Amino acid sequence: MYRTHTNGALRLSDINQEVTLSGWVQKIRDKGFMIWIDLRDRYGITQLVLDVDRSDAALLEKARSLGREFVIQIKGVVIERESKNKNIPTGEIEILVQDLRILNTAKTPPFTIEDNTDGGDELRMQYRYLDIRRNPVRENLIFRHKVSMEVRKYLSDHGFIDVETPYLIKSTPEGARDFVVPSRMNEGQFYALPQSPQTFKQLLMVGGMDKYFQLVKCFRDEDLRADRQPEFTQIDCEMAFVEQEDILDTFEGLTRHLLQEINGVTVDKFPRMTYEEAMKTYGNDKPDIRFGMKFGELNDLTQGKGLGVFDSAELVVGIAAPACSGYSRKQTDRLINFVKRPQVGANGLVWAKYNEDGSFKSSVDKFYTPEDLALWGKRLGAQKGDLMLIMAGDADKTRTQLSVLRMHMAEELNLRNPKEFAPLWVVDFPLLEWDEETNRYHAMHHPFTSPKPEDMPLLETDPGKVRANAYDMVLNGNEIGGGSIRIYDKDTQSKMFDLLGFTKEEAQAQFGFLMNAFEYGAPPHGGLAFGLDRLVAILGGQETIRDFIAFPKNNSGRDLMIDAPSVIDTEQLKELHLKIDL
Ligand code: AMO
Repeated sequence: MYRTHTNGALRLSDINQEVTLSGWVQKIRDKGFMIWIDLRDRYGITQLVLDVDRSDAALLEKARSLGREFVIQIKGVVIERESKNKNIPTGEIEILVQDLRILNTAKTPPFTIEDNTDGGDELRMQYRYLDIRRNPVRENLIFRHKVSMEVRKYLSDHGFIDVETPYLIKSTPEGARDFVVPSRMNEGQFYALPQSPQTFKQLLMVGGMDKYFQLVKCFRDEDLRADRQPEFTQIDCEMAFVEQEDILDTFEGLTRHLLQEINGVTVDKFPRMTYEEAMKTYGNDKPDIRFGMKFGELNDLTQGKGLGVFDSAELVVGIAAPACSGYSRKQTDRLINFVKRPQVGANGLVWAKYNEDGSFKSSVDKFYTPEDLALWGKRLGAQKGDLMLIMAGDADKTRTQLSVLRMHMAEELNLRNPKEFAPLWVVDFPLLEWDEETNRYHAMHHPFTSPKPEDMPLLETDPGKVRANAYDMVLNGNEIGGGSIRIYDKDTQSKMFDLLGFTKEEAQAQFGFLMNAFEYGAPPHGGLAFGLDRLVAILGGQETIRDFIAFPKNNSGRDLMIDAPSVIDTEQLKELHLKIDL
């Protein structure tokens, strides 16, 4: 038997017990007459002790030969500690070691296995198995497990059936590029890895499964960021005989349940906001509503007073940053430089202070009177002591830029409290978005999304104006889930492919299987998928999903530990009928 207890188990009530423990050597302190060893496993740390009076010389010598991360087994007796450590649950006891066995030696790890390690990102990814020994990483993985289990339980309890769908499939467009897999048995042909199980879950509805869910890997070849991995996990769901309201209800229920069970937070009914309202008020379709700084449009109050950048702008729009009127010249200059960075891309920023004493001061005092500035303040909901920040230009671009500035201010002012949760639904997304580069429409969600029935006539006349029965769930400024009511008749689906620029033949070749299925009694249906990695990270109070994935990839899509992707040998290429000229 390797152990009678784990390293987090023993307490004062276990005094005098003979125990066997196993684990990793976290730390050794050798005072000559006494040796302390911290023994670690997933459950905690237990202090071991050996001394010249009570331990024989051979045992002391063996203890001295140990290094960090050696795997050992000890037998000993639980004794009360003289100097107790209140910070850990086993801090009142220690084990007087009577026998010690080295189960495995270890090289000195390339970084310290401590909560605050000296290892950089890349090094820790290369030795991820060592990183996982650290508390924060291990805790994140256990946290993820808790969320996943809770999700499975909730959905199963609500009648959802977990069905697995294949990974070797045909392209499902979700807006990214596909990862493809060559077929050895079918020369010149490729599978695509699913960007999502979208078409399969719809076919399960045609198959009468009624309520489906799956915690499923999805693969997308797209630019990576803190909240994006090339392979990630969705909580994928679909329901038959439902309207949008049923879906919002069901998944709002799931999210509320998770917030309660995992975070102990009770939230009211989620607010809803149309896409249009979100863009106008926050410049963003995933607004963080934990704080204000709502947009106010100022065209009528600013134009015609001789300031060129405002006069020529399609939109003049601002926010009031709370309690920032005391900003120095250096601080306002820093904000101006921030918005001028290529990542934001603005030409400039106008500021106006609504001082504590009620007076006004702005960077454009030559053009505007204090009375003008007071009207701006009213529009932006500014209070005494606030700093108004105003941007101008093309409407869409300016909103996006001001949204970046709003989030920047929120960070600077510590308004993004990770312990506070502000979920909402963003609804009524446009069905299509115009792509300047390819000169055609793209489906904003995906091509299987149903237009709003009342907007159907616009499909012929003004497709860009058609709204979709599509919705996103947003939590603390992150899109954690999205879905839609689907098209379930062949004619509408076929019209949709027309609009998206597919020829009849292309649509048939790529999606014939789905349209054919629609001819065999497809029920009305709809669904949604959460990004599990994002959901877990945010519930865990963070935004970098990599920290909640056991073996993540870096920003170039590489797994540094196994060194993938990598070249394959000529023989393998030949078998796959592939030729590569490098
Ligand atoms: P969508 O493309 O919006 O919808 O994806 C659903 C959710 O998945 C998460 N997500 C990601 N997470 C990590 N890394 C990525 N690269 C990544 N891409 C997306 C987001 C997102 O909200 N089939 C539809 C769902 C449906 O219509 O039912 C779909 O995949 O949190």
